Amino acid sequence: MNRWLIPALLLALAAACSPQSEITDPAARGERDFNGLGCVKCHMIGDKGVDWGPNLTMLGFRKSPAWIDTWLKDPHAWNPKTVMPNFNLKDSTRADLVAYLSAQKGQAWKVKPWETPEAAALPAAERGKLIFNSVGCVSCHAKDGYGGYPNNNVAGGLVLALTKVNEGYTKPEAHQVIKGGRLSIPSDSTKPAPMLQMPKWGDKLSEKEIDDLVEYVFSLGPKVAAGKPSKDDF
Ligand code: HEC
Ligand code: HEC
Repeated sequence: MNRWLIPALLLALAAACSPQSEITDPAARGERDFNGLGCVKCHMIGDKGVDWGPNLTMLGFRKSPAWIDTWLKDPHAWNPKTVMPNFNLKDSTRADLVAYLSAQKGQAWKVKPWETPEAAALPAAERGKLIFNSVGCVSCHAKDGYGGYPNNNVAGGLVLALTKVNEGYTKPEAHQVIKGGRLSIPSDSTKPAPMLQMPKWGDKLSEKEIDDLVEYVFSLGPKVAAGKPSKDDF
């Protein structure tokens, strides 16, 4: 008998008996937990999941692993108004989710939501809105750019609203800001740097996509009526 056969069979048996250890890649374990814990009931990655909370297909491009970890530890500690539940995750589960989520840089899309035939037929500002929500501008600037989302160590404690960009910038200037990104200025240089920074979208989006975003951002204005916080406020 082949002298490797018995050890190989024993190894296979051991693997079958310990399902927790069968996945060795942290990101793969994170993907399993993302599905198993029900994150998919509120979030989309690629064409899977439900579009209720922010789309996470490009999360790893817009947010750092350190921020994702902070958020998952206790969403309400970062944003008291959030509707995302605290899952009280074990440290190891959280680390696996961070590995999976920070690897999401847009590759999960087979067809980008703004590249469907229907989206191609939309006016530029509406396609811009679709890009804004899909790539996650909404996760920092909030619905329709209303603002109100926390950042650390910045004046006012919030990420800027985008409802007055049309007053402060020309369209080419706004294009440049979106393309090149911008560092948040710390309000206290002795404290840790702001965790949320305006990403350099030119690394991910084309000139045309940024033009569509500019059209959308220029169409924004102040919030008309303040209502109760709802899922639409993310
Ligand atoms: C009941 C719906 C719901 C469930 C379930 C849920 N989330 Fe969320 N999540 C949200 C909402 C809504 C936000 C946006 C923050 C807010 O409330 O304004 C969010 C935000 C996030 C963010 C930040 C997104 C960004 O772009 O900055 C991450 C990361 C995240 N969730 C991961 C998870 C993970 C991982 C799970 C599962 C363990 C999960 N969520 C389960 C609703 C949910
Ligand atoms: C990770 C959070 C984050 C995401 C995602 C994000 N931004 Fe920003 N953005 C910021 C921050 C922070 C600033 C302010 C930087 C500063 O302090 O000057 C900013 C500034 C801006 C400004 C300039 C506003 C002004 O009044 O000076 C525009 C325009 C803008 N963002 C558009 C966008 C668009 C469009 C997207 C999506 C393609 C996007 N942002 C995604 C964090 C973000």
